[in-house]
Amino acid sequence: MPNYGDPDYWEKRYEEQQGRTFDWLESYESLKPMIKEIIDSSGKVLILGCGNAELGEDMYKDGFRDIENIDISEVVIGQMQARCESMPEMHWKVMDVRDLKYPSNFFDIAIDKSTIDALLCGDNSYINVARMTKEVQRVLKVGGVYMAISYGVPDNRLDHFEWKHLHWTVSYITLNEGTENPHYVYLCRKKEGADEICEANWKEVEENLNEEDEDDLKPDYDDDEDEDRNDEDVEESEKTNE
Ligand SMILES: C[S@@+](CC[C@H](N)C(=O)[O-])C[C@H]1O[C@@H](n2cnc3c(N)ncnc32)[C@H](O)[C@@H]1O
Repeated sequence: MPNYGDPDYWEKRYEEQQGRTFDWLESYESLKPMIKEIIDSSGKVLILGCGNAELGEDMYKDGFRDIENIDISEVVIGQMQARCESMPEMHWKVMDVRDLKYPSNFFDIAIDKSTIDALLCGDNSYINVARMTKEVQRVLKVGGVYMAISYGVPDNRLDHFEWKHLHWTVSYITLNEGTENPHYVYLCRKKEGADEICEANWKEVEENLNEEDEDDLKPDYDDDEDEDRNDEDVEESEKTNE
């Protein structure tokens, strides 16, 4: 399996995919009803690890305007900026999801479509995901939602939304249930007091995750089932998109 956790992997992939788009796991069409239950078209939207997916532009065409798209890959941000130059109110920025350059309490929704999956395939995956969730919770308004669309089953994902620095209500919806490629939409709604709880507990979470051997933390995760599913998923969605 490619190293989806390595930024260099993405730079190369996007250079090769120049002129193409590709939506991992799900398109806007299938997510639209859920997104519209959370925000109306005036909502402030952050797309985490946007890649060359059409999600942002499809939302724009559907009336959303206040959309920030970020990705660690300079190549893909350049490509998407050029592709969407007729959509001036939508912004594209090179940014790391673990270090967001936005004010606190700013967004109504943060959409992560398989970026958590990519981080979990890399080195230091647990602490990287914890840093991302810390930042995402910070930039969300109270009542705002982190929406993570993932191939990862709840047993392999829910723990990441329940570390002590996080204070949000977590639920999930299963898409394509009963098929070979189910996907999960995790919804984390920021609660009152989250910023204070994060401030009080982050150091402890960070120390624990830095100290722990990741293999001890994730007895099941390295079982090939999850990783194989990723490859199957990629192949499946590449077929669907081409
Ligand atoms: C599996 S792709 C998903 C792309 C897109 N969200 C979609 O649905 O098609 C993961 C994306 O996360 C980006 N990424 C990986 N690590 C990142 C980081 N630390 N900060 C920002 N983006 C990152 C990659 O460049 C890639 O575009």
